[in-house]
Amino acid sequence: MNDRFLRACRGQAVDRTPLWIMRQAGRYLPEYRELRERHGFAALYREPELAARVTLQPLDRFDLDAAILFSDILVPAEAMGFRVRFDPGPVLDAPVRSAADVDRIGDVDVEAEVPYVFDAIRLLRRELATRVPLIGFAASPFTLAVYLVEGGGSRRFEHVKALLFGEPETAHRLLDRLTEVTARYLEAQIRAGAQAVQLFDSWGGILGRNEYRELALPYARRVLERISGLGAPRIFFALDLAHALTDVGESGADVIGVDWRLPLDEAAQRLGRPHVLQGNLDPCVLYAPPERIREHVGRVLDSARALPGHVFNLGHGIHPDTPVASVEVLVEAVASASRR
Ligand code: CP3
Repeated sequence: MNDRFLRACRGQAVDRTPLWIMRQAGRYLPEYRELRERHGFAALYREPELAARVTLQPLDRFDLDAAILFSDILVPAEAMGFRVRFDPGPVLDAPVRSAADVDRIGDVDVEAEVPYVFDAIRLLRRELATRVPLIGFAASPFTLAVYLVEGGGSRRFEHVKALLFGEPETAHRLLDRLTEVTARYLEAQIRAGAQAVQLFDSWGGILGRNEYRELALPYARRVLERISGLGAPRIFFALDLAHALTDVGESGADVIGVDWRLPLDEAAQRLGRPHVLQGNLDPCVLYAPPERIREHVGRVLDSARALPGHVFNLGHGIHPDTPVASVEVLVEAVASASRR
């Protein structure tokens, strides 16, 4: 098996820098769009055979070093009994707005509620046996709380911030419950066969540094701690958190995923302690011509020279209108420019 992704996560020597791409299975691929004409997005991740097929699409096309389960960060919300639809972002029927709403969230048996996740993982491990490792994922408790309280995406995040600032006890109680569900969910993914996991803190960046330290980081830390010692590297993806990277450095993760806003060497300084880093090409570089893509890949690789390990990725998910030819250039550029 190609294990350079897992080796890099562990800080071990590699023949070249491994690469995977956030949202590597998705709408920029014609074969994905073709399947989507016949199936809704939710049907694709709820049906293990289809989820596995979509997961493998980018690997059949490009020489990537890891697969990531095709699913969504709102699946644990479904497991908790929330009704979620996609339009195209997630929309919840009945958001959490009060202490009574929080109290209705009970203990969740994730394996019983969303068995399709673990079935898809088992299926994929069989198909990937001699190819690349499989990454599982979840949202951080805070990021999940944002969706549960806002009921979907948001611009000002007024509902979740009203809860945090107005009823901190209720907010902490919600985060506490989501921490338990998220830890169980990732634990179950690893037991089903996920060889690494990524915790997406996609909305932590809406908080000021003090609030991040109080309401987001401690719960992410607890999740990461609960799944340590299971043999799967734990990646913590910190979006829009340049102002709180010193705190992110306390997460206890094995690998920190960073967005494109800081060069990797500067991100490493702010993290304070040595970490393997993942990232961080601006996804919009893929709109540029091949020579520019190669140049920016070179910059990212240069900024990673002194790190204990580097996993190449974009600084955020690939955009749906990205040319496939640009991804070919990216894959080739990372491989040739990083070969040792
Ligand atoms: O990375 C991968 O290839 C795995 C699949 C994956 C998806 N979503 C597929 C998806 C992963 C890891 C996610 C995580 C996710 N989902 C995040 C965290 C990542 C991040 O961007 O910070 C978030 C915030 C979500 C919530 C979500 N789901 C949104 C905001 C959207 C709309 C996205 C958009 O650009 O319109 C979705 C739907 C979704 N998730 C799609 C895909 C491929 C599009 C569905 C479709 O219409 O086909």
